[in-house]
Amino acid sequence: MKEQLEKIYADAAADIEKACTVKDLEDVKFKYLSRKGEFNEIKKGLKDLSVEDKKIVGALANDITQKLETSIKEKFQLFYEKELNEKLQKEKIDVTLPGQYIPRGHVHPLTSTTNEICSIFQSLGFSIVPDEFGPEVETEYYNFDMLNVPKDHPARDMQDTFYTNIAKNVVLRSQTSGSQIHAMEGKNPPIRIIAPGRVYRNENVNSRKNNFFHQIEGLYVDKNITFGDLKGVLNEFIRIYFGESRPTRFRSSFFPFTEPSAEVDVQCIMCGGKGCRTCSGTGWLEILGSGMVDPNVLRGVGIDPDVYSGFAFGMGVERLAMLKYAIDDIRLFFNNDVRFSQQFHK
Ligand code: DAH
Repeated sequence: MKEQLEKIYADAAADIEKACTVKDLEDVKFKYLSRKGEFNEIKKGLKDLSVEDKKIVGALANDITQKLETSIKEKFQLFYEKELNEKLQKEKIDVTLPGQYIPRGHVHPLTSTTNEICSIFQSLGFSIVPDEFGPEVETEYYNFDMLNVPKDHPARDMQDTFYTNIAKNVVLRSQTSGSQIHAMEGKNPPIRIIAPGRVYRNENVNSRKNNFFHQIEGLYVDKNITFGDLKGVLNEFIRIYFGESRPTRFRSSFFPFTEPSAEVDVQCIMCGGKGCRTCSGTGWLEILGSGMVDPNVLRGVGIDPDVYSGFAFGMGVERLAMLKYAIDDIRLFFNNDVRFSQQFHK
């Protein structure tokens, strides 16, 4: 039995010597040291030996088992580290490799300009009315009648306004001013709102005119609202939007729904006020119409003009964007050339 054990030990030691991988060592371990391994088979015979022999052979068997286990373990550690290193080397990730470029989308310059204007007015205490209170498909009632626009006013002409075939009196709104009526109907002052949206006009398209464009309407109705408040709010808006440096002027004007009325001009950015094609040689560009809400308009929505007064304004978003970014053709906003819109990537 002793010889048998030594023989197995020699075989096992040779196999360990030959082993080249972790897997080879695991096989050796299984072959000799597992429950069904060769050592165990022999150890089963120990019970038939005399007590004396049992002691000697048992000790030898244990000694051999231990030696084998130790040398398998040592080699295992060696192989394991080697194989692990090889694997890590093979699967190495180059963290310095640049990532894949994913182009990021961004909002259209008219959307960002609208957002910017709205947030300035929000900071001045105005709230934005929901879209459904100023629909793009509108009745003449809201677009003209309630705004004190006479039945024979040229703006109502088919040459200026798009009529639909939904019904005789349904138009594509030509101004956002109708949202003033939606905002006041059935409500009590104070009312302090802005309403951004798209409007349509039957225009000959050129570098300054398109047959649809965007406006932001504003309205403030309360007790003791004066023209001074109107000037204060609009001057503050212009100061924030353009910065201190841009010359502006108030010019008296006429709108059926305001009395008195004023337009605001900003110095032309293309020529610095000298006069050019963009500003038709005047050096100024109009950005908005405004005025004190006509008493007739207030009366129409059930607000007593002897108690309340208000101011209103409507500004062109394209104009404001053109003046800020020196864009000389309104059509650039609408022909979706990314070389243009990408320049507004913030
Ligand atoms: N709706 C006018 C336009 O489209 C602009 C305007 C003028 C709006 C005076 C107003 C206002 O609210 O008070 O030309």
